[in-house]
Formats: sequence, structure tokens, C-alpha cells
Amino acid sequence: MNISVIGAGQMGAGIAQVFAVGGHTVSLIDISQESLDRGLAAIRKSLERIVKKEKITAEQLEAAMKNIQTYTDMGAGAQDAELVIEAATENVDLKLKIFAQLDSIAPASAPLATNTSSISITRIAAATKRPDKVIGMHFMNPVPVMKLVEVIRGYATSDATTQLVMDLSRELGKVPVEVNDYPGFVANRILMPMLNEAMYTLWEGVGGVAEIDTVMKLGMAHPMGPLQLADYIGLDTCLAILNVMKEGFGRQHYQPCPLLVNMVTAGKLGRKSGEGFYDYS
Ligand code: CAA
Repeated sequence: MNISVIGAGQMGAGIAQVFAVGGHTVSLIDISQESLDRGLAAIRKSLERIVKKEKITAEQLEAAMKNIQTYTDMGAGAQDAELVIEAATENVDLKLKIFAQLDSIAPASAPLATNTSSISITRIAAATKRPDKVIGMHFMNPVPVMKLVEVIRGYATSDATTQLVMDLSRELGKVPVEVNDYPGFVANRILMPMLNEAMYTLWEGVGGVAEIDTVMKLGMAHPMGPLQLADYIGLDTCLAILNVMKEGFGRQHYQPCPLLVNMVTAGKLGRKSGEGFYDYS
């Protein structure tokens, strides 16, 4: 299939990678060539890791890289798409703009999926004239490793669109799970309150960063502690998701920890900015 992926960041690059390895042709689209080059370099690095584990060969790596073309022009990159997956920044206005544009560019038969982690699929679909073909296809980070794809049906998403995305996810070796369209869906509705609570626990001085993470890693068999995971996801993304849930449900329960707000305001965004709860410099 021809797959167009919008956004060459951490998630977009990971999504492009798994489709390219799966033998699909991928058009990777971003606003600057610099972002596209960074995305391609991240894909190659990740594939080299997989070659080292002898899960794919060096020839398969090169074949996957050849399956990816890059575009700074969305028109050129999406005009032949059989499926589009948007993985731009978690910003509602940006996503609405992209979907309105995509609707006029991509073939009318193409489903338009979004990798949003919390924004309403129904709202994004309403920016298009094909709401039956708009769906959430939420991959987890790191995309090449994590098995889950959370498949979110908007109010008008059709059975045919859902089936296509479920089948395609399975073909990529993932496990798709179908859920409905409410703020945070299932994954982040459950994950984010835990990460937020870890931040409150730190802010209130109940424990230090290492102590909180060690309790959750060794006590609950989590692969990463909650503060390490928040850094990994990006603190700005965590804050954006908590705000979507707070607004969507109107419950105090989702109030972002003031420490999180302060850190994001100060530009401490976790791993990607070099500093969050941990120092990555
Ligand atoms: N590309 C390819 N392979 C990778 C990789 C990448 N980017 N990152 C890790 N791997 C591979 C490693 O090569 C290794 O392979 P083997 O099992 O064959 O040895 C395996 O993954 C494990 O990696 P490591 O040994 O380096 O390190 P680890 O055991 O600490 O695992 C981890 C790393 C997979 C990231 C693990 O720490 C983990 O599962 N963390 C939690 C991740 C998580 O919760 N993700 C969801 C975040 S929420 C989200 O994404 C949604 C949202 O909307 C916010």
C-alpha cells in the first residue's frame, strides 16, 4: 500500500519505519528537510539495532530505507495515498488544519488516520468531508518495539475503515485494540493520572526521583519508572494530554501537577530537550 505519514518526529519516524519494514511504500512528510533528515537518521539507527539483534538482515534494512520517500510538500506526498497517518505535534488547531488540507489533497477513497494520544477523533473528523474514513491509530513509543495499536473509532467512523486499520495493524505484527472516542481514550486515561500522581508525590516531598521510580519499577514490575517514562514521552505531551482530559471531563482528578507546568514553562521537556526529571546531556 502507499502510506503517507505526516510528521517525521519520534512517532512519525517509528510509524514510517514499521510500514517500510512491512513492505509498504511510505511517503514521509514534514515541513522542513532538516526534520525529515533527522527522522530518516533515527529510522536507520533503530533498524541497525534490529539488525544487530539478527531480527532482520542488512539487506532488509536497505530495502526498508528504499521504501521511504521524503516530502516537504503535503500535496506531493499525499496525492497517491491509500492511507494517511498523521503524527504531528499534539495540538488541536494544527491537527484540524492538517485534516482540512488532507481532505482536499488525498484520494477520496483514502482513510485518514491520526496518531493523536488524546484529541477527539470526532472533532478531527468534522474538519473533513469524509468523517466515516477518519480514525485514531495510536501507536506506542518506541513504535518498533511496542505491540499495541489503540484503534479509536470516532462518532462516524465506519466499520470498513475500522476493519482496514485493525487488519493492517495485525499485518505489521501489532495487536490492535478497538476503543471509543472519549478524552485520553483508554491508554492515556489510565497512564497519565499515574504519571501525574508520581509528579505530585515528588512535589510534595514524599520521595525523590530515584526512590519513586525504583518503587514502581521493582514493586510493580514496570519497565520504566513513571518519572523516567514521563521524560521519555515528553513533559509537554504529558501536560497537553492531561489538559485535554481535564477540559473534556471537567474533573479535578486530571489537574496537572504544578511541578509539571513549571518544568514545561521552563523548557524542561524531558529526554528530547536534554533535561526533565533526569539529566540527558
Ligand atoms: N528501535 C528498535 N529497537 C529498540 C528501540 C528502538 N527505538 N528501543 C528499544 N529497542 C529494543 C532493544 O534493541 C531491545 O531488543 P531485544 O529485546 O531484542 O534485546 C529491546 O527493545 C529492549 O531495549 P533495551 O534492552 O535497550 O532497554 P529496555 O529493556 O530498558 O527497554 C523499552 C526499552 C522498550 C523502551 C522499555 O524500557 C519499555 O518498554 N519502556 C516503557 C515504554 C512505554 O511504556 N511506552 C508507552 C509510552 S506511552 C505512549 O507511547 C503513548 C502516548 O500517547 C503517550
